[in-house]
Amino acid sequence: MKKDLVSIKDLAEEEIRLILSTAFSFKDVLKRDIKKVPALRGKTMVNLFFEPSTRTRTSFELAQKRLSADVLNFSVPASSVVKGESLLDTIRTIQSYGADYIVLRHPCSGTPHFLSKIVSASVINAGDGINEHPTQALLDAFTIQEKKGTLEGLEVAIVGDIMHSRVARSNSLCLSALGAKVRFVGPPTLMPVHIPKGVKVFYNLQEGITGVDVIMSLRVQKERMDSAFFPSEREYFKLYGITFERLSRADSGAIVMHPGPMNRGIEISSEVADSDRAVILDQVTNGIAVRMAVLYLVGRDNA
Ligand code: NCD
Repeated sequence: MKKDLVSIKDLAEEEIRLILSTAFSFKDVLKRDIKKVPALRGKTMVNLFFEPSTRTRTSFELAQKRLSADVLNFSVPASSVVKGESLLDTIRTIQSYGADYIVLRHPCSGTPHFLSKIVSASVINAGDGINEHPTQALLDAFTIQEKKGTLEGLEVAIVGDIMHSRVARSNSLCLSALGAKVRFVGPPTLMPVHIPKGVKVFYNLQEGITGVDVIMSLRVQKERMDSAFFPSEREYFKLYGITFERLSRADSGAIVMHPGPMNRGIEISSEVADSDRAVILDQVTNGIAVRMAVLYLVGRDNA
């Protein structure tokens, strides 16, 4: 596999499948009493998060510890970045520690790509601006496969603020590569200009989720909006919120996903989020096994 995982496009279809099957084996490890393997003992991993994160950061840290690596969490608010240090100087400092892997989240699209060209460590993109979030897409694919048996031929509706969502972008690439049919559902103001090949667009939620096997609800990303993209949160929920009534349009066995953090009562009702149709906490659990597989395989020869 390539040195870095910056985009889903870095992975061939068989490499995506290898990550998923390896994650299935690691999931077994996580069910044991002692949830640790020595696979990456002695490797140094630095987690560099320039944006808030709950799930992704803790999930990477646990995955690294389960692989017996040495972990350094670099907290930006407590670092010299707030004193004006440049990204490059911060990176050079980290590189001097001999880091083998750098996990990077950054508000600017393209930062992991830039970093991957200047460091010898493997760079794993943990979310860059509105661009990509490859490990989230991989853990989503893993969760769908676990729940549905396969992705081949499944209809997946990604619903909500698609334009600002790196999760939607990485998922559309990953799910399509695995044979699923992807729909983007949301208001025209929150639809990206560029629609990936093969993705169908729906502006009407009822139509968009009719007959689907998977609904992936997305957070309305207010922090990335510089103006009003919809009249009010109440109206947004009325038109695009996932409720039980709406869910009846989907396949009777349809599952509901959300990458978190959720805005309850805006993109999803609490009733649905807490129901047995939702697999949101399974996504979190699976994130550890999938990130273990990514850290284990990326940069490895003939894997
Ligand atoms: C997402 C992210 O940060 O891109 N969350 C996550 O990683 N689990 C989605 C979001 O912030 O809405």
